[in-house]
Amino acid sequence: MKNRALIETAVFPVAGRGTRFLPATKASPKEMLPVVDKPLIQYAVEEALAAGARRLVFITGASKRAIEDHFDSDQELEGLLRRQGKSDLLRQLRSVLPSYATCIYIRQPAPLGLGHAVLCARPAVGERPFFVHLADDLIDAQTPVLAQMAEVHAGRGGSVIGCQTVPRAETDRYGIVATQGRGVTQRITAIVEKPKPAQAPSTLAVVGRYLLMPRVFDHLARIGRGAGGEIQLTDGISRLLDDEAVYAHRFEGRRYDCGSKLGYLQATVAYALAHPELGAPFRAHLRSIVSQGVTAGRRGPSAQGRPRKR
Ligand code: UTP
Repeated sequence: MKNRALIETAVFPVAGRGTRFLPATKASPKEMLPVVDKPLIQYAVEEALAAGARRLVFITGASKRAIEDHFDSDQELEGLLRRQGKSDLLRQLRSVLPSYATCIYIRQPAPLGLGHAVLCARPAVGERPFFVHLADDLIDAQTPVLAQMAEVHAGRGGSVIGCQTVPRAETDRYGIVATQGRGVTQRITAIVEKPKPAQAPSTLAVVGRYLLMPRVFDHLARIGRGAGGEIQLTDGISRLLDDEAVYAHRFEGRRYDCGSKLGYLQATVAYALAHPELGAPFRAHLRSIVSQGVTAGRRGPSAQGRPRKR
């Protein structure tokens, strides 16, 4: 990667309640859901570190203590693993957060929206460009997506937003952009939150990766509540378009919406198949259940609480 201006700060808004994943997310954060053997938030942090971030700002809310615990050192557990001679696990545990990274936790007083969550990070970010990473959008990419976006920023300046084409029927689940120009990186001319398919200016959707210029804070501080009664990051970015360039970057990589149950299951299968130790036995298991035919719904919600017949 050449001439990349370092983006030092990454913001992780983790204060949402994750209602699509209830009851799993009632008392524990959606971002702590594991994909194979790492929680979503750890994939997020690894991506930000790989893009050069060193200051990690978590915007937290109710029931999010587990995230702080995950990135804190656990002397008791480390001592136990040392006594048991489990040096591999000890190494893995210590590599959760490299010593050069700093974690900052800021509490969002109420879940007033993604834009409000990002605004809460202002004192920690200051007047420099910064990343925003939504951990429930897990993206499997050769070059981490934030690093791809930092490269675009190094070449053109301005803000850069990770985008992906979605089916027109799904535009009302995303921020949708209108752009001008050609190629994988295009200048945004308009951005609108969750438009109905008939009103959407395109099918190019914003997914959970942003590289933002600090000026966006001025707008977020001024805008009121938008769609869904929340302070929307989309509305802050829309105001930013009047001041400076904001680019949509169609990143290289496969995205999994781990905020939805289906996307989470798809990610789990894909990451398990690619896992160095689990990949082969898991593939064999999938083959065997597919060839035997699966009994649908055997352990589904309707079976909850019923004793199993022996
Ligand atoms: P989502 O729209 O996915 O909301 O938020 P959610 O609450 O997490 O999940 P559902 O839709 O109810 O299932 C997008 C991102 O913005 C954060 C969330 O934590 C998530 O990373 N967020 C949202 C906040 O940090 N604060 C908010 O007030 C709202």
